[in-house]
Amino acid sequence: MKLFTRLVPAVLALCTTALAQISSDCNPMNATCSPNQGLGISNYSINFAEYETSSRVWNWTAGKATYDGNGAAFTVNKRGDTPTVKTRFYIFFGQVEVIMKAAPGQGIVSSIVVLSDTLDEIDWELIGGNNTHVQTNYFGKGNTTSYDRAVWHPISNPQEEYHNYTLDWSKEKLDFYIDSQIVRTLKYEDANGGLNYPQTPSDVRLGIWAGGDSKNDKYTIEWAGGETDYSKGPFNMYVQSLRISDASTGTQYTYGDRSGSMGSIQVANDTSKALSLDAGNGDTAAQSIKQKWNGLSTGAKIGIAASVLGVAAIGLIVFIFCCIKQRRAGKHEKLLEDAKFEKDRTELLAFRAEMGRQRSEKIALMQQAPIGVGNHGYHVPSSIGSHGGRGYQRY
Ligand SMILES: *[C@@H]1O[C@H](CO)[C@@H](O)[C@H](O)[C@H]1NC(C)=O
Ligand SMILES: *[C@@H]1O[C@H](CO)[C@@H](O)[C@H](O)[C@H]1NC(C)=O
Ligand SMILES: *[C@@H]1O[C@H](CO)[C@@H](O)[C@H](O)[C@H]1NC(C)=O
Ligand SMILES: *[C@@H]1O[C@H](CO)[C@@H](O)[C@H](O)[C@H]1NC(C)=O
Ligand SMILES: *[C@@H]1O[C@H](CO)[C@@H](O)[C@H](O)[C@H]1NC(C)=O
Ligand SMILES: *[C@@H]1O[C@H](CO)[C@@H](O)[C@H](O)[C@H]1NC(C)=O
Ligand SMILES: *[C@@H]1O[C@H](CO)[C@@H](O)[C@H](O)[C@H]1NC(C)=O
Repeated sequence: MKLFTRLVPAVLALCTTALAQISSDCNPMNATCSPNQGLGISNYSINFAEYETSSRVWNWTAGKATYDGNGAAFTVNKRGDTPTVKTRFYIFFGQVEVIMKAAPGQGIVSSIVVLSDTLDEIDWELIGGNNTHVQTNYFGKGNTTSYDRAVWHPISNPQEEYHNYTLDWSKEKLDFYIDSQIVRTLKYEDANGGLNYPQTPSDVRLGIWAGGDSKNDKYTIEWAGGETDYSKGPFNMYVQSLRISDASTGTQYTYGDRSGSMGSIQVANDTSKALSLDAGNGDTAAQSIKQKWNGLSTGAKIGIAASVLGVAAIGLIVFIFCCIKQRRAGKHEKLLEDAKFEKDRTELLAFRAEMGRQRSEKIALMQQAPIGVGNHGYHVPSSIGSHGGRGYQRY
C-alpha cells in the first residue's frame, strides 16, 4: 500500500513488485486513506535466533529471510534480490532498536528505514564497501530537494560485528544511538522549522539491495560505493533482534486532515482493533517464559538461577524426607513418586541448561560489542550530495 515513491525508472525496470506497489499507494496528504494499524502495546520485540516473522505482524514485500543461529539473514545472491520486510503496525514516536551486522560487498546496501504514508522517513544505511562508517538520514514529506541531511558516523567493523542501532524518536527530537552512544540529534525546529521533521505514524522496514547494480543511475551507484560484482556474493545482512516501542500505544492512527502534521493525527485505543502479535509479544500476561527471561537483567537472572537452585535443594531435602516416609507407607506409591520426581528433575535440568545457554549467549554478545564509535559524524561531500546523497530504494 504505502510505498516509497522515490524510484528511478531504471530501478523500476528491475523490479516488478515495486511497480505493483505504486498503484496501491495512498498518501493521506492527497487522499483519504484507511487508518494506520497501531502496535497497541508499548513494546514489541523479536529475537530472530528464536522466532521467525509471522505474517500477522510482518509483510515481506520482496524475498524472504533465512534463519539460523546468527538470526535472520537477508541475502543478495544475484541481480534483483532485495529481501525486504516491513511491520504491519505503525508507531507514532517511540524507539526502534536493531541489533545487526551489515552485509559486505561493494554497492550492497543494508538498511533500517522508518517510513510513514506521507513519506516522512528516518534511515540507517550501511554501505557494503565501507566498513568504517554508517550513514543516517531523514526526510520530511518525501522532500528530497536537499541532500545535505545525510551524516556519516564512524563505527568499528559493522560487517563483522553486531552493533546496536537505536532511534529514540519524540515530538521534540530524534536521537540516533550506536551501541548506546548518541551519535546524532535532530531537533524538530532544526528540520526546516519542523516542516521536514518526521512526525507521522510510521512502519519499520529492514532490507538489503544492490545500490551498485550496473543498471542503476550513476549517482546511486556512486552513493552506494561503486558497482556491485554479484560473483563475489552471496552478501548477507544478519539481524539478530529487534525492539520497537510505540510511545502513543494506540491501536489505530488516523489523519484528521491533509496537513501531514503531528497535530492532525487522531489516536484510537480500541482493543478490538488490536493486532494479534507474534514472537511471544502480547500483553504482559501472555509473554512466554522465554520472553520474560530475555527481558531480565543479568543480575535478576543470576538471582533467579540462584533461587531455582535453592528451591531444588529444598525440594531434594523434602523428597528425601518424603521418600523415607513413603518407604514406610508402601513401595507402590514410592515408585509413582519417584517417577514424578525424575520427570521434574529432568525438566528442571533442561530449564537450567537453557538458561545457561542463553546467559552465555548474552555474555558473548556483550563481549563482542566494543564501542568504537565517536560522538561526531560529518556530512556527505556535496559533490555526491547535491545529486543524490541518498540512493533510490525500493520499499
Ligand atoms: C504487503 O505490502 C504490500 C506493499 O505495501 C501490499 O501491496 C500487500 O498487499 C501487502 N501484503 C499483504 C499480504 O498484506
Ligand atoms: C500531492 O499533491 C500535491 C499537489 O497536487 C503534489 O504536488 C504532490 O506531489 C503530491 N504528493 C504525493 C506524494 O503524491
Ligand atoms: C520498552 O522496553 C525498554 C527496554 O526494555 C524500556 O527501556 C522502555 O522503557 C520500554 N518502553 C515502554 C514504553 O514501556
Ligand atoms: C567510508 O565513508 C567515509 C565517510 O563518507 C569515508 O570517509 C571513507 O573514505 C569511506 N571508506 C571507504 C572504504 O569508502
Ligand atoms: C524542502 O526542504 C528544503 C530544505 O531542506 C526547503 O528549503 C524547502 O522549502 C522544502 N520544500 C518543501 C516543499 O517543504
Ligand atoms: C541498545 O541501545 C539502546 C539505546 O542506548 C539501549 O536502550 C538498549 O538497551 C540497547 N540494547 C541492547 C540489547 O543492548
Ligand atoms: C490504551 O489502553 C492501554 C490499556 O488500557 C493503556 O495502557 C494505554 O495507555 C492506552 N493508550 C492510549 C493512547 O490511551
